[in-house]
Amino acid sequence: MPESTQVTNSENISFHPENFFNQQWKLYEKVLNNNYMGHREIYSVLHSFLVSYFQTPFKMLEFGCGDASFTAHSLLNTRISNYQGIDLSAPALEIAKQNLAAIQCNVTLTKGDFSQLILELPQGEYSKFDFILISFALHHLSLAQKDYFIGQLKNLLAPGGVFILIDVICQEQEDRETYIRRYLDNVYKSWSLLTSLEHSMVEKHISTSDFPETQQTLDKISQKYNFARFECLYQDPLNSTQLLCFYL
Ligand SMILES: C[S@@+](CC[C@H](N)C(=O)[O-])C[C@H]1O[C@@H](n2cnc3c(N)ncnc32)[C@H](O)[C@@H]1O
Repeated sequence: MPESTQVTNSENISFHPENFFNQQWKLYEKVLNNNYMGHREIYSVLHSFLVSYFQTPFKMLEFGCGDASFTAHSLLNTRISNYQGIDLSAPALEIAKQNLAAIQCNVTLTKGDFSQLILELPQGEYSKFDFILISFALHHLSLAQKDYFIGQLKNLLAPGGVFILIDVICQEQEDRETYIRRYLDNVYKSWSLLTSLEHSMVEKHISTSDFPETQQTLDKISQKYNFARFECLYQDPLNSTQLLCFYL
């Protein structure tokens, strides 16, 4: 059992994905259960990284944690001491609470918009995080918002800390329209257990809310904010998802 679990609230909740994930969380669970977005492979790489990189207790912050199901698996047998998760969706946070119960650490879950909360998190020396994760949630923001968000993370990372971005990535020279078409072709071809209504819900969400960047653009942002090193630890076979590390 965790040593403590708190659920707090933020007043400023207005961002569009809240409705999508409140109403369609069951669909996202079906996508996760069938590994359509490659979570099993990605989070296995994340688990190996956490075991080898953090040899002493570490504090973690996760933005857009959702139900934290894969995060909880990746934290098993690591030296995690504190976990804080932020998400807009109350139903997802309720499930996250159960999923994280297996991890031996202090757990805090906060309902709110991470773009707002990133400015409100304490930035004192002792409240910094060794590890910050955002998985499949940053791509909802515009390029300027992503740039600003990543810039703010430097204030929250402890010395030696690392920020990991897991997200959809488009290829160099690929425009958004081509990327969306490529991604959706695979959804219709390979996400075979979805009903036709579910396929259209996924299509609507991706075509209105996904704004992927290239790895090169994200590397430039890491250089702009003087991260010491940037590396890609995983790229999926379809060339549409990556796990990127920004080392302080
Ligand atoms: C595609 S799900 C990803 C969930 C989980 N991180 C994963 O990798 O499976 C995106 C999550 O980010 C949350 N989200 C999106 N925008 C957000 C924001 N501005 N503030 C807080 N949560 C947000 C959604 O509610 C949802 O739970």
